[in-house]
Amino acid sequence: MRVDLSVNLAPHHKLELRLRNPIMTASGTFSNGLEIAKHYDVERLGALVSKGTTLKARRGNGVPRTVETAAGMMNAIGFQNIGVSALVSQIAPVWEKWSVPVLVNIMGETLEEYGTLAARLDGVPGVAGLEVNVSCPNVEAGGIEFGQDPRAAASVVREVAANTSLPFLVKLTPNVNDIRPIARAVEEAGAQGITVMNTVPALAIDVRRRRPVLANVFGGLSGPAIKPIALRQVYLASSVVEFPVVASGGAMTGTDVVEFVMAGASAVQIGTASFLDPSAAWRILDELEAWCLAEGLNGLDEIRGVARRRD
Ligand SMILES: Cc1cc2nc3c(=O)[nH]c(=O)nc-3n(C[C@H](O)[C@H](O)[C@H](O)COP(=O)(O)O)c2cc1C
Repeated sequence: MRVDLSVNLAPHHKLELRLRNPIMTASGTFSNGLEIAKHYDVERLGALVSKGTTLKARRGNGVPRTVETAAGMMNAIGFQNIGVSALVSQIAPVWEKWSVPVLVNIMGETLEEYGTLAARLDGVPGVAGLEVNVSCPNVEAGGIEFGQDPRAAASVVREVAANTSLPFLVKLTPNVNDIRPIARAVEEAGAQGITVMNTVPALAIDVRRRRPVLANVFGGLSGPAIKPIALRQVYLASSVVEFPVVASGGAMTGTDVVEFVMAGASAVQIGTASFLDPSAAWRILDELEAWCLAEGLNGLDEIRGVARRRD
């Protein structure tokens, strides 16, 4: 017997976003899925999320771009990607043949760019939805990230919604005092859900060179080191919104996924775990299924948000 782990990430949207299970890949850790699909059955996963895609192709930062840290890693890739036009013409036709939904993670430097990206991806076969990364400095507002200000985050949501008929999630940054006003603003402005959270800003120093390890100086910390932070952010965000919260941050095992669901998540993304073991997402899915069977659960609804109960 198998447990029904299916989840709908956009229940109120006309296109919906039905996942056969809550295990998703995290943006930037599976490229666009084509290489991994040669070795593993991507159709078994709940959904895939593309590499962060910008309007024009980007070469990214200089090297080193990644470094291992205690219980995690840091990266400063600098959004190396092929640009939205190449994604639409070369990659989306492959996704179209897959039954697993693919979300395109987009990042604009201005409001207008978010709108243009959303419009370019609208109606493209193979694209099931978007994940809008708002961890980008808003050049027009003095460099504060769109995702650090409820009004700026809401304006991105309205811009994207005006330019697409696709369901979309907004990926929030942990780099805020309180994630709750941002989560609420994004829900009110019309997104279908949020991904909580992106990487945590960090620094690593090479004492031999007496310099930062990464060419970009700072990088984003990910992996098990950030899981307790992500759990707290998921707990806080999901306590103030009705729409789905997708967790991202340090999930390495099926039990980690259960923890995120108990904090309030509807789905969980697997990122850094895949760098240690490319089959991590599939193993985690097996572990989650086994846990649910052992606990006699009929579905994850039975445990979603239970850790937030006060009784
Ligand atoms: C090498 C690397 C590249 C990433 N690229 C992106 C990206 O392009 N867009 C994005 O929104 N998040 C990106 N992320 C963040 C991940 O999607 C994820 O949110 C984060 O790593 C936390 O999850 P994890 O601890 O499971 O890796 C990247 C992470 C890593 C490690």
